[in-house]
Amino acid sequence: MSSDPWQRWLGPLLSADDGADAEWMSQFTLSALGQASRWRALPPVRATLDATAKALQRHDPRLAQTVFGCRFANPVGLAAGFDKNAVAAGIWQAFGFGFAELGTITAQAQPGNPKPRLFRLAKEQAALNRMGFNNKGAAAVQRILQAQGLPPVGERPLVLGLNLGKSKVTPLEHAADDYASSLEALAPLADYVVINVSSPNTPGLRELQDETLLRQLVERLRGQSGCPPLLVKIAPDLADEAIDALARLAYAEGLAGVIATNTSLDRLGLEQRRLLQTGRTLAEEAGGLSGVPLRARALEVLRRLRVSAGPQLPLIGVGGIDSPQAAWDRIAAGASLVQLYTGWIYRGPELVPCILDGLLQQLEHHGLPTIAAAVGCGLPWQEG
Ligand code: FNR
Repeated sequence: MSSDPWQRWLGPLLSADDGADAEWMSQFTLSALGQASRWRALPPVRATLDATAKALQRHDPRLAQTVFGCRFANPVGLAAGFDKNAVAAGIWQAFGFGFAELGTITAQAQPGNPKPRLFRLAKEQAALNRMGFNNKGAAAVQRILQAQGLPPVGERPLVLGLNLGKSKVTPLEHAADDYASSLEALAPLADYVVINVSSPNTPGLRELQDETLLRQLVERLRGQSGCPPLLVKIAPDLADEAIDALARLAYAEGLAGVIATNTSLDRLGLEQRRLLQTGRTLAEEAGGLSGVPLRARALEVLRRLRVSAGPQLPLIGVGGIDSPQAAWDRIAAGASLVQLYTGWIYRGPELVPCILDGLLQQLEHHGLPTIAAAVGCGLPWQEG
């Protein structure tokens, strides 16, 4: 029997598509983490968090770096979409993360799409989701963050990014007002802000990746007082020319960075795979695909961005990272930072220290002094 409690207790539930309702499990975990964050000063909660941190954190100065003005203790972050209402903002560092991206948050509270809307594809270590930005809205998230009594920006143990999206009820032509209103409420609480124009589950949203519309949106938000470093998160389904245009825009507009990628509308070879819960094939289902099947495409998009944006623009790699090698490949291809979602769910919290240990081992193997020196180095993963 595995000694890792995650694999022992949750492995059987995660190894089948219908093991346990995927959304219910996420919600259950998050509400426990939310309580822990709120009450983290109480001795029993503190003791549990300290024990978790002791097992999962890796303190090594070689992993630390400053990217777009923020100090990251290590390059592994939690991707957007897990902690949509920022309920556990005060404790993500206990899980070993160097940063956490919270949201997507929209200006208006919204329920998201009808359930079921999150499906496990266990054999492929993948997920299909069409959540549709279910969240409590910017004003409520502001209160939730304030109630956790976090240290001010710049003095926190981990970097917190806030990921903003467009409310479903807001027409596309008023998208900039919608994002601007969320930014106004949340800017003072964020180390960095992400403009999410790449979720496949809000009708029309991806049109904002168009160069002209995105330029208008970026200029509007950057003009707002107190705007933190601003990044854009892009889809893996963009054509090469669109990726190049985005890289040019990021450079010209002085964006802090680009996050590649969100989930995919492409079925990535799984078109005929049937969902147990609906009986329909992935080709027939709406939603974005994440996890292992996305890995190759997400890496390809990152490589393209690196070439077209040049070496200066910070990139965050996300999509199908579930091992030290997948993280190393993304960093060697030019990502300063990486994020986890689907892989973290399947592999469990041990994945973070496992990746950090693997990255340190690669630095030693290649004779590189720091993780910053590995960014874009192009060196292949070496089995140790
Ligand atoms: C996501 N993702 C996501 N991204 C985002 O910018 N805002 C969001 O609200 C969400 N919501 C969300 C929900 C669920 C259930 C999943 C699985 C994913 C996308 C996520 O941040 C990431 O970009 C992709 O999932 C690819 O990474 P992984 O999952 O392959 O590691």
